[in-house]
Amino acid sequence: MSRTAVAILSTENLLHNLQVIKGQAPHSKVIAMVKANAYGHGLRSVSARLEKHVDMLGVASIDEALALRKVGIEIPIILAEGVFEPNELLVASTEGFHVVFHEEIQLQWLANLSCPLPIQAWLKVDTGMGRLGFDINKASDYFDQLSKSRQIAHPIRIMSHMACADDPSNPLNQQQIEAFQSFIQKISAKGPSEYSLCNSAGVFQFPESHYSFIRPGIALYGASPLLNKTAAELSLKPVMTLQTSLIARKDVKKGSPIGYGARFTCPADLPVGIIAFGYGDGYPRTTKDGAPILVNNTKCKLIGRVSMDMIAVYLSPCPTAKVGDPVILCGNDLPIEEVAKFTDNVSYDLLTGVQNRVKFHWTRYTNTATNGLLRNAG
Ligand SMILES: Cc1ncc(COP(=O)(O)O)c(C=O)c1O
Repeated sequence: MSRTAVAILSTENLLHNLQVIKGQAPHSKVIAMVKANAYGHGLRSVSARLEKHVDMLGVASIDEALALRKVGIEIPIILAEGVFEPNELLVASTEGFHVVFHEEIQLQWLANLSCPLPIQAWLKVDTGMGRLGFDINKASDYFDQLSKSRQIAHPIRIMSHMACADDPSNPLNQQQIEAFQSFIQKISAKGPSEYSLCNSAGVFQFPESHYSFIRPGIALYGASPLLNKTAAELSLKPVMTLQTSLIARKDVKKGSPIGYGARFTCPADLPVGIIAFGYGDGYPRTTKDGAPILVNNTKCKLIGRVSMDMIAVYLSPCPTAKVGDPVILCGNDLPIEEVAKFTDNVSYDLLTGVQNRVKFHWTRYTNTATNGLLRNAG
């Protein structure tokens, strides 16, 4: 039998999460964020499953956008960080990609080019995150520059991004919402436009700020975007379940060390299992002792340092476990947030960190109403 580290991906849960998100923002269009290989779930597979159900896909680079066109995805795609060099504007123009403008140099590139077709443009303003976006006090001038360009399609849309939407008690949220609202009031006097502010956390926290487009990412994949609520409390279901099996079992004597650096010493005689999954598969090397792992659906605890290909687990809750028994590292019955608590990571980087050698298997969606959307786009 080949190595058993697999990711089982649920089409049903992906579409379920999308429905939950749409239920939160029934009047907004949806930009599904599929950047970073769809948060580790597979850019093409996720996009093919979402294509008929969302208004736009969001990526971080033109390479990701072109990869989607190559497999026949036709819906609009937004380059969330805009273009990285002038030629990308020409490609974006012919492919109809939406381009975020956030830096003056991107406007200079535009002025020096002749694009075959008008570009769908978004102006990004910095309302307080301090990352991408024009200074909110100067952004109106950049909006005017874009407006005057013959190379830009109308309307020019406006977006910003929130820094602390995962934490409802953070006062920066209200400051950003107010800054965005007052900016778009100014812009709306110049003509009709469309606006976007909310990521997943904003979708659940700030219904008054959903505007024309929401931009969910992590919630689509079934992890909680909020610090104070679990995914289950938000009715989200994990799309990815990481599975493997027990490849060794031993009875270890009190005082024996386990794994590299002998980080863990057995406090008593213990049944110990060895699992075929390691940091080479994307499970963080720094995960602390006690991290939950399901063996035969029973919660056991990780012990010792994670190796490249293996993890040790304390089997006392599951004493009859034997070689070949199934193991779940996160996903169904084991929310990724529970695992993340034992790492220096959050669900975002755990999911995006899953490595290529883990075999991906997508479930088919059994609802006949949406069967037509499934395509063989791996
Ligand atoms: C511009 C932008 N919008 C939306 C998102 C989606 O965020 P989340 O995954 O928290 O929903 C991201 C993610 O980083 C982003 O950079």
